[in-house]
Amino acid sequence: MDNIVIIDCGSQFTQLIARRTREMKIHSVVLPWDVTAERVRAQAPSGLIISGGPDSVNDPGAIALQKEIFESDVPILGICYGMQLLAAALGGRVASGDGHEYGTTPVKLLGESALFSGVEREFEALMSHGDHVESVPSGFRVAAHTKRGVTAAMESGDKRRFGLQFHPEVNHTQYGENILRNFLFNICKCKGDWDLGDWIERAVSDIKEQVGSSHVICGLSGGVDSSVAAALVNRAIGKQLECVFVDHGLLRLNEGQEVLSSYAGLGLSVHSVDASELFLGALEGVTDPEQKRKVIGKLFIDAFDEASVKIEKLSKTSAAWLLQGTIYPDVIESGGKKKGAAVIKSHHNVGGLPEHMNMKLLEPLRDLFKDEVREIGRLLGVPSAIVDRHPFPGPGLAVRCLGHITKERLDTLRAADAIFRDELIAAGLYESIWQSFCVLLPVRTVGVMGDGRTYSEVIALRAVDSADAMTASWTRLPLDLLDLVSKRICNEVRGVNRVVMDITSKPPATIEWE
Ligand code: XMP
Repeated sequence: MDNIVIIDCGSQFTQLIARRTREMKIHSVVLPWDVTAERVRAQAPSGLIISGGPDSVNDPGAIALQKEIFESDVPILGICYGMQLLAAALGGRVASGDGHEYGTTPVKLLGESALFSGVEREFEALMSHGDHVESVPSGFRVAAHTKRGVTAAMESGDKRRFGLQFHPEVNHTQYGENILRNFLFNICKCKGDWDLGDWIERAVSDIKEQVGSSHVICGLSGGVDSSVAAALVNRAIGKQLECVFVDHGLLRLNEGQEVLSSYAGLGLSVHSVDASELFLGALEGVTDPEQKRKVIGKLFIDAFDEASVKIEKLSKTSAAWLLQGTIYPDVIESGGKKKGAAVIKSHHNVGGLPEHMNMKLLEPLRDLFKDEVREIGRLLGVPSAIVDRHPFPGPGLAVRCLGHITKERLDTLRAADAIFRDELIAAGLYESIWQSFCVLLPVRTVGVMGDGRTYSEVIALRAVDSADAMTASWTRLPLDLLDLVSKRICNEVRGVNRVVMDITSKPPATIEWE
């Protein structure tokens, strides 16, 4: 099987490189920058890709790879910082400061190169680093430059070492996919015969090896990620897996029952806990978004902890592993492994466990994007009711019920949300939308109903299109549908007299309002 080793130097795009290889049906592994040459060799790679990163090779303490890695006998592609590392390691010179290019920049090819086969002589490419290669190592040539003469690509005389100052893995780079294809198929000679079914086989055998005869416990939320993670681990170790479903009272209408019956069909052993009163009590008076998430995160762990102690007593075993359905966007947005990355929201399924639980984390989906998780779910036989469900945040309706959280306000939100969902399904639009939901706003507005004045709550409709939740654009829903939803909500949901629509993309907004 083809295998590409991607060495992660801290770029936000590293997983995107891995995703591109998967899209081309080529297996890849992402290894950290301090990996040894021996470990790289053990992967028997067909090629290496060194990612970008925020450092400057000229700074003391900058990320550096083991020198032997550059001596590997397989083709190497360095991207951005990866190119600068390659240049510096092989005797070239990297300049910091002046002359840098940011954003999309025209790039011009020089001479012929297998890497650029089928690519126009001039194209737009995304650059995002202040440094650039000022002189290429001996035996290399400049294969492309920018308008300002900055080296945009270099290659070695033996055609086995390549560097790109720009990012071929992002959609903003024209011919980016073509360039990666050339590297992977023409230069590394990959066959492209790997698929997500193989991913499952490999993950199942890794999980078996990792877990051995230990027991695993999993917190199921009813969402796609935790359900697929449980189905995968169930396939690997069956009876060694026990699941806990904590109903925090922040679910959508009828969601608890629907989800539990789907799990029964999957053959999972699920212990359900109704902790709704506990959660609603603790959330009384809490209105700050991050505080809500903290309260929920902590209580969730407590409820889960209590349930696992009970299960352990019943089964007379103790779980050594905690399974979580963490996926890649959760990792990046919670600050991930990047140095100093900004925390946008503290996703409650990232960030670990209280020490006393003394369990290791099992996160088999950590490197995947949502659409890949869905595909894996389908291959594992997870029903469409779960796999095709719109993403739902761990803190549930708490982050959609802005301001005070009370049972009454949650019921209002649930009723409106069910109407919006039903109408999207009836219009045949639900599955093509990435995510849709209602938000209950923390304001009241004046209205008129019959002959009387009302002073009631406001519902905002949110629907977005996205590929992986990292960016999203608001969905242009048909006006007749919006009209119908608005009328139904105002007529059928007590205490709501106004419906508005969120027409903001991400960025600048996030998908959820809190
Ligand atoms: P934002 O609002 O950050 O959301 O644009 C991106 C995606 O993540 C979901 N989301 C969460 N999922 N725990 C989760 O499991 C969380 O705390 C959380 N917060 C947001 C959100 O619904 C969207 O799909």
